Parts: sequence; structure tokens; C-alpha cells
Amino acid sequence: MGATQPRVLVSEEDIRRRVTELAATIERDYAGADEIVLLGVLRGAFIFLADLARALSVPRRIDFIALSSYENGSTFAGGVRLIMDSRINVTGRHVLIVEDILDSGRTLAYLLETFEARHPASLRSCVLVRKPHQEVPIEVDYLGFDIPDDWVVGYGLDYGDHFRALPYIGVVDPAPEADVP
Ligand code: IMP
Ligand code: MG
Repeated sequence: MGATQPRVLVSEEDIRRRVTELAATIERDYAGADEIVLLGVLRGAFIFLADLARALSVPRRIDFIALSSYENGSTFAGGVRLIMDSRINVTGRHVLIVEDILDSGRTLAYLLETFEARHPASLRSCVLVRKPHQEVPIEVDYLGFDIPDDWVVGYGLDYGDHFRALPYIGVVDPAPEADVP
């Protein structure tokens, strides 16, 4: 493998502990709900959603949506677009959007607006990591970790589609502006 192994930012054990805590909080908040819909944003949230869904015991459905906003690996290339929609009719249901990263905030802002328009019973967000500066102010309901403004990979997150299966959240060097190795 040409690329150097990303340095550990959040360890596997810290992720496991935090996911358990988040699940306990979500569990409490939705205690009265008949069912919740966990809506994972592909592809970055697939591992987070898998772990979160298994840590919960409240009745839950799982679905995925896919968006396009960053093209060519890590370069921002314009607006957000829904390229795969939910198969569940969310009207009247409790929806929890499960996302990997909050960076500019545009993705989550778009998703909240899009799904709010479908009149769910409730709409909240659960985000694994948050970077320091959002262009769009967004309140996250459930947050895993605040992280520095570095490009992170692992636990579902990628850099040019690499490193998704790393068990921890790591930082790639050099910076994403440089050529992909
Ligand atoms: P936002 O719309 O700027 O908040 O972008 C969030 C999306 O950009 C995330 O859902 C990720 O897919 C992607 N993204 C932003 N920063 C990173 C990173 O450090 N590693 C991997 N993906 C990232
Ligand atoms: Mg994403």
C-alpha cells in the first residue's frame, strides 16, 4: 500500500464507548415512540449506523439515502443533490438522520429541509463527528465527537474512497489538497 497509515484521532474503543452512550440517550429520548426510522447517509455513515442500530433496542427501521456534494474525492464541487431517496414514507414517523460528518453544514441543512417538508412526526440528526466551522448554522441533536479541521478517514469515512474500513477515525497526511497517493 502506497499511502501511509492514518494516525489515530479517535480510537476504536472511544468510538465504541461513545456509540453506546449515544444509543442510551436516544433510547431515553424516544422512550414513548412506537418506532423510529434511522436514515443513514451513504456512504460515510454506513458503519456508524450499523453500530448505532445494534446498540438501540427501541423499535427501528433502517433506510439509506445517498447524496452527491463532493466530487473527485475531497474537492467541494457545488451544491448538494439527493441521488437516492428513502424507500420509507416518512410522513408521520420519527426520523433520525444519521450522518458521518458536519463540515460546512450544507449537507445536513439540505437534508433537514428536504425531510421536514415531508411532515415527519419528528426530525432529528445524529452526527458522528463535527468540524469546527459551519457555513450554515446547524444544531445537531446527537453528536459523537468534535474534531479539528483535518481530513478524517476510517469508520466509514473515506479519502478518495480509501480507508473506509479502518476501525478507528484517523487523519490522513498530507492534506487533501495534495495529490492522491
Ligand atoms: P458538509 O455539507 O460540508 O457539512 O459536508 C459534509 C460531507 O462532506 C460529509 O457527509 C462527508 O461525506 C464529507 N466530508 C467532509 N469532511 C470530510 C472528512 O474529513 N472526511 C471524509 N468526508 C468528509
Ligand atoms: Mg456524508
